[in-house]
Amino acid sequence: MQVKIRGRMKHFRTVAFDVPGNQVRLIEQRLLPHEFRVVGTRDFRETARAIRDMVVRGAGAIGATAAYGLAQGARAFRGGNLPRFDAHVQRVFEILRDARPTAVDPLNALLEVRRKMQAGTSVAEQQALALTAAEEFADEDVAHCRELGEAGAPLIREGMRVLTHCNAGWLAFVDIGSATAPLYAAQQLGRAFHVYCDETRPRSQGATLTAWELAQQGISHQIIADNAAGLLFARGQIDLVIVGSDRTLGRSGEVANKIGTYTKAVLAKRHGVPFYVAIPLSTLDWTLRSGADIPIEERDAAEVLGAWGLTKSGRREYVRVANPTSGACNPGFDVTPPELITGIITPAGIFRPKELWKNRRLLGG
Ligand code: MRU
Repeated sequence: MQVKIRGRMKHFRTVAFDVPGNQVRLIEQRLLPHEFRVVGTRDFRETARAIRDMVVRGAGAIGATAAYGLAQGARAFRGGNLPRFDAHVQRVFEILRDARPTAVDPLNALLEVRRKMQAGTSVAEQQALALTAAEEFADEDVAHCRELGEAGAPLIREGMRVLTHCNAGWLAFVDIGSATAPLYAAQQLGRAFHVYCDETRPRSQGATLTAWELAQQGISHQIIADNAAGLLFARGQIDLVIVGSDRTLGRSGEVANKIGTYTKAVLAKRHGVPFYVAIPLSTLDWTLRSGADIPIEERDAAEVLGAWGLTKSGRREYVRVANPTSGACNPGFDVTPPELITGIITPAGIFRPKELWKNRRLLGG
């Protein structure tokens, strides 16, 4: 991603690895859009905390972070005892896997790194293979986002008004993004269009992160309150919806994504507006049979009861908005059924949700 820092454009990945320091380097997303800062995690436990506390968030980005975290944990092991090393790696794997449950990318990434490590016959070999495998996961994430952008770009026609939800952009991946990839590819082809960013309460990733990205990229956009989309659909002001996903079931075509996605899919169907989901292959879950089995993260009530923002003096502060004696229910994700989805944009092309299973070889299943 290109970020303007002190007037100059500089390229960053959302997640990277500092080999000599054995650190995972992350853009501190909780500070955006007010401050751009890159932070390093010194050990795998700190990396897991960064995922859990949402220093880094978004399915692909936490997938790459988990992959690097496993390499980081493996590389920190001292000695040559393989059984002890295996037990240590298993612990690192479990701690990273459990940091956030809904997105499947971290699990897919961790399994992939572990599988590739197994070709090594010594601790040192496995440590080196872990790092190579994590780098490969991160590079593949970028390649997949680029390819799905090319597959999805023809959907974005001149003058269209596109709705997106939450942040499935650069910041949710290593680079480029999923829902934003067709937008960036269409922009490169010289097409002009307008994006409505759902604010996406309670954490407001649309208002803070997607809007910031689109501004960096020079794409025409406006933030809308989550509740405004119905009126815009009814007035014919939305031509297309593109969202990301945290877990897409290859067997059923169901899509887990940020809370509120299902509502937008119902509205799109009601108004005959195409609804697309953009994913790299690491977001596919070929195991679960039903969306009801997807673990839905229940998040802290404080997210609903208040909000973070910047004070006039430039300090980041949390303010309580809700009635002081009330609690909140805060599920982080919902599941959209396949009949509401026009197509799934993947690096291998666009598929109807129910076609994923029969194309599983092509899609890495
Ligand atoms: O809770 P988050 O911010 O990690 O949620 C992830 C998301 O931003 C969205 O659900 C997104 O649309 C999919 S992530 C590519």
